Amino acid sequence: MKKSIIKSSGMFVPPNVITNHDLEEILDTSDEWIRQRTGIEQRYWIDSEGVTGSSDLGFEASKKALDNAGWTPEDLDFIIFATLSPDIMFPGSGCLLQAKLGLNSTPALDIRQQCTGFLYGLATADAYIKTGLANKILLVGAEVHSSGLDKSTRGRDVTVIFGDGAAAVCIEGVETDETAGVLASALHADGNFAEALMTELPASRLPLRMPPDVPLDDARYYPVMDGPAIFKKAVRMLPKVIKESLEKAQISLDEIDLIIPHQANMRINQALGQFLKLDDDKIFHNIQKYGNTTAASIPLALHEAMEQGRIGKSGDIVILTGLGAGLTWGSVIYKFL
Ligand code: ACO
Repeated sequence: MKKSIIKSSGMFVPPNVITNHDLEEILDTSDEWIRQRTGIEQRYWIDSEGVTGSSDLGFEASKKALDNAGWTPEDLDFIIFATLSPDIMFPGSGCLLQAKLGLNSTPALDIRQQCTGFLYGLATADAYIKTGLANKILLVGAEVHSSGLDKSTRGRDVTVIFGDGAAAVCIEGVETDETAGVLASALHADGNFAEALMTELPASRLPLRMPPDVPLDDARYYPVMDGPAIFKKAVRMLPKVIKESLEKAQISLDEIDLIIPHQANMRINQALGQFLKLDDDKIFHNIQKYGNTTAASIPLALHEAMEQGRIGKSGDIVILTGLGAGLTWGSVIYKFL
């Protein structure tokens, strides 16, 4: 059977760095609070010029991934685009990206799984390759949060954590007898907790999506989060889902070279390391620089971990894991060929 191999990666963040001190200027927060509670030092936000939509950021990351693979857009037979911040309500950002790549018939699928979008996308790409439906797949995670955040003190818990960014990988089906590629994936969702992190409006469940009696600065137009509840869920569910994926792959935690968790909060990822009794150098962190870039967070971290030589040699095994809005959570185990 073919193995799903990550051929290359690429990333892109907009040029506008927003430090914690910049946020102190616009809402009631402090650099100390943000660093202590989340580990974040800065994030990138789009400005009103240049690349603005999530497909624009995804396009920049995709060009780099395609170049690094030595592929042209025409080589692709499937595009998967993970985002919670699509350019427009519909059609999906995957279609918009496909057109920007100069294509006009390659299938494009959007995934709306928030922080686990890349994990769902990787599992989907693996299934498409293993069933012969596609062989060269572009998987993108991209977010533009900054234009949809409540930048008043009311929204400070969410606003300080989110950053804009994109990352992409090229995945190819390769015939090999080696044990390599996506070894196992474990995915979950629990819609009973949908309200723990959501943006409610515009809402098709209402007679009018943008109710005329709701002012445009109403909190329901912005992401709202029960941070402590999600924090507790993440600390409980991530070790569990990692164990589940290890059992599926029939390997032990000792064989893992690096864990790349979704970058939602440094404290969640440190707690994960403690729970699994792993040294901190086995857990990858880059939340300091980018904040929480949601669907882009895991591929962005994977890209940097490979660039830094932390992972990527033949035989290296990495666990990708995360939990986010939905709730959704999962873990994918990948072995480099
Ligand atoms: N600056 C200063 N004070 C703040 C800020 C801020 N930016 N935000 C909240 N506070 C205040 C609160 O008002 C509260 O004040 P009070 O005690 O006077 O009421 C106090 O800080 C503590 O608030 P908590 O919400 O209890 O703070 P907590 O330690 O839980 O940290 C955080 C908040 C960082 C959001 C944390 O809960 C967290 O990271 N949760 C998980 C986030 C996550 O994983 N999300 C999922 C992924 S994102 C996705 O899916 C799209």
